[in-house]
Amino acid sequence: MTEAAKFHLKLTQDMLQGATIALIPGDPARVAQIAKHLQNSKHLVSNREFVSYLGYIDDLPIVITSTGIGGPSTSIAVEELAELGVKTFLRIGTTGAIQNNIKVGDIIITTAAVRLDGASLHFAPLNYPAVADFHCVNALYQSAQQYLELADAKSFLGITASSDTFYPGQERYDTYSKYVLPAFQGSFDMYKKLNILNYEMESATLYTMCSALGLRAGMLAGVLINRNYAEIPDDNVVQNIEESVIKIAINAAKKLAE
Ligand code: URA
Repeated sequence: MTEAAKFHLKLTQDMLQGATIALIPGDPARVAQIAKHLQNSKHLVSNREFVSYLGYIDDLPIVITSTGIGGPSTSIAVEELAELGVKTFLRIGTTGAIQNNIKVGDIIITTAAVRLDGASLHFAPLNYPAVADFHCVNALYQSAQQYLELADAKSFLGITASSDTFYPGQERYDTYSKYVLPAFQGSFDMYKKLNILNYEMESATLYTMCSALGLRAGMLAGVLINRNYAEIPDDNVVQNIEESVIKIAINAAKKLAE
């Protein structure tokens, strides 16, 4: 009987060629960009926000699938890839830094996430930590050290505030209402004082669900803005940052397979 394709990703196990490592950016457009860095890469399927390619590092098959923005769609991508045999997830993201010393173009490797999302509650209660897999963090860190030696950028390891919303949950006032709920007023300064490095939108769901399901996950993000100095990124720097994080993640995938 022909194997049924998964509900959202429309992938089958056959298409993955035994891949157990996935690179998961948020942006569907970044999937082809990542695939260019792998050998014999090919487009598999595109459905909604989920674009998937397969490529190789020597003989090692790697699947690349976009998650879309936020926890709910990330949980769908991770669930369906896990059902197809993927055990290790490396998220390639972008982020807004909140500590003064982190510069645009630097790299943040998230060791744990503050759970400001809703989707992770569907996998484990709020007192369960959203924590990265040690081996994934180690591989990303070693890889970043090698790569960043050549670049004028630093890598930071630490805790990320991972929010369901880009605007109120990250205490942004450059919005239609110019208002955030009392629960978020002052949260930017509080997280800064608590040594949180940055904001993004997927790690809380990714880390909670992967830990709860016995899967491995890590994430690195290129810093697009520092929220103390700017709210809108400079488009020219975005492309360079994306290339750096892609190279670091691919090198980390190679280390994890060794
Ligand atoms: N992604 C986020 O979630 N926040 C930012 O500030 C930048 C990227």
